[in-house]
This record gives sequence, C-alpha cells and structure tokens, in this order.
Amino acid sequence: MNSEIHIKGQNTDKNHEVIQEINRLREKKNAIILAHFYQVPEIQDLADFVGDSLGLSQEAFNTNADIIVFAGVHFMAETAKILNPAKKVLLPDLEAGCSLADSCPAGEFNKFKEKYPSHIVISYINCSAEVKALSDIICTSSNAVKIVESLPKDAKIIFAPDKNLGNYVNMITGRNMVLWEGSCEVHDIIKTEAVIQLKADHPDAKLIAHPECKAVILQMADFIGSTTALLNFTQRDPAKEFIVATETGILHQMQKSSPDKKFYVVPTDETCSCNDCPYMKLNTLPKLLNCLKNESPEIVLSAELMDKARKPILRMLELSK
Ligand code: 13P
Ligand code: SF4
Repeated sequence: MNSEIHIKGQNTDKNHEVIQEINRLREKKNAIILAHFYQVPEIQDLADFVGDSLGLSQEAFNTNADIIVFAGVHFMAETAKILNPAKKVLLPDLEAGCSLADSCPAGEFNKFKEKYPSHIVISYINCSAEVKALSDIICTSSNAVKIVESLPKDAKIIFAPDKNLGNYVNMITGRNMVLWEGSCEVHDIIKTEAVIQLKADHPDAKLIAHPECKAVILQMADFIGSTTALLNFTQRDPAKEFIVATETGILHQMQKSSPDKKFYVVPTDETCSCNDCPYMKLNTLPKLLNCLKNESPEIVLSAELMDKARKPILRMLELSK
C-alpha cells in the first residue's frame, strides 16, 4: 500500500489561460480569493490567502476587497458573508457542502438545546448559519480548547456538532460537555489498522492528526491540531517523515515548505480516495473563473439570520485575539 503523496504538476497550458483570466478579473473587480488548505493545489497556488477556518474568517472580516471568492465549502463562505455583509461573497460551486454541518439540522438541534435550558452552546464553525444563530460562541479546531477554557470551570456546555472534537476538548480541559453526535465523513473513516500499518512501515515518522479524527487515532498521535497547526508542526519539528491523518489537500503546503521531508496520508480504503473531501474538491479552476466572471453563485442570507449568527462568531474572534 503506497500512501506517499506526489503532487503532480497542474499548470497545463489550459490552466495557464484560465489563471491569466482569473488574475485579470480579480484585479478589475477588486476581488480577493480565499482558499482552504483542502483545495486542489492549483487553487491554493493562485489564492490571495490560504488558511484554516479561523484564518479565513479573520481575512474575510478584515478585507477591503469588494468581492470575496471563497474557495472552500458553504459554511465557510456563509461565515464570510455574515462577517462582512456589504461584500459580495461567491462560492465556485454551491454544492460544496460539509457532511459535518449536514449532521446537525437546525430544527433538531433546537429541540436538543431545549433539553438543556441552562447550558451555554459552543458550536464548531462547521455548521449552518441557522445553527450558529442558535449558539452562544463559535469555535474552530484551532481555538476550541481556548474558547471552552474562557468559560468558568463549572459552566454547563453543549458542544456541537462534532463529537470527535468535543470528546477531544473534554479530555484536554477535563470538562464534561454535552455533545451533539455529529462527525465528518472524511475524518471519521480514517482506519486504525491503516495507521498502525503505516507506523510499522515508517517507524521514524510522526503521526499528526486533525481533531475531527476518532479518539483511537488521536490517542496514537504525536501531535493534534487544526490544518494550520499541523502545517506549522511539520515545519518546525526535526522529524523527516510524517503520517498525516487529515484531508489530502494539506499535503501541498507541507511538501512546498519542507521539500526534503516525506509525508504519508493514511489510506481509508483500497477502493476510494475517501480522505479527499468530496465537497472541497468540487471547486475547480474553471468554476472559479466562471463565478468571478458571472459574479455567481452568490451567498445570500437574510439580514435577520446574519445578525443572529454574527454575535457568536464575533465573540470567537474577540476571544482569539
Ligand atoms: P480547520 O479548522 O483545520 O481549517 O478544519 C476545517 C475542516 O473542515 C476540517 O475538516
Ligand atoms: Fe466538512 Fe469533513 Fe469536508 Fe471538513 S473535511 S469540509 S468537516 S466534510
């Protein structure tokens, strides 16, 4: 089983033309392109900013651009719109959703919340605007521990929607948050046996994992963190080999910044590339060009919903300073 990732040269002549046109239009329209680390390499390479969910929210909040092209998934573009409602926010493919956000429908979550009337609701940013509007504070994988620890030790907390991240935060902080039973289909499927096999094949490699992975994977990990934290770790750590338990897109930046190091993704199944997020990978260069050209698909939300959802996001940004 060969899980070493080789990023192929993506800059074909066709790509070159598309990139030139994207560059012309972004300048003409004063647009900024924000890309998540899970995007395909050619999108990461042309973005104005590549980052994790927190970094992308901060960029979207502070930008002076007139148009934000969000090369990521729907909840990320929605967050950008909520934080900067005067801007036009575009998502190259409106079908780019998130299984974790989908695992928490707002109506069901509201009923769940009613069972715990004295609890504070902390929601992971991977949720819909409607769930954000039902929350007191938002967090991302890079600040979840800090956000939870900003509350008194005896605070009663509901954590949604990711049970794996929630379990991890409970373990680190010694809290006993009530968890919504959601998960990410990409991280939850990472196979324990495959990790054990890779560790045996590469005994000097360090295992690094995103906290959306199951507890059994996290228990074996040498380092756990958000995509930005994982990337930073591979840059500063003296190890020469890393087993990477998260979505494959992050490998691009890891290999670019540490070309002498080796990275192994954990195979999920012999028959599928299940650790490619199918939603993130819906965005392509031609779709990005089309959306910039047509200024569509656009994220449109009601002012009332945005006002409700903005409060808990701003609380997170304030606590993240
Ligand atoms: P980050 O917070 O690390 O960007 O993770 C977002 C995500 O969707 C992970 O699956
Ligand atoms: Fe959602 Fe998982 Fe894809 Fe992240 S990797 S966007 S949590 S489905």
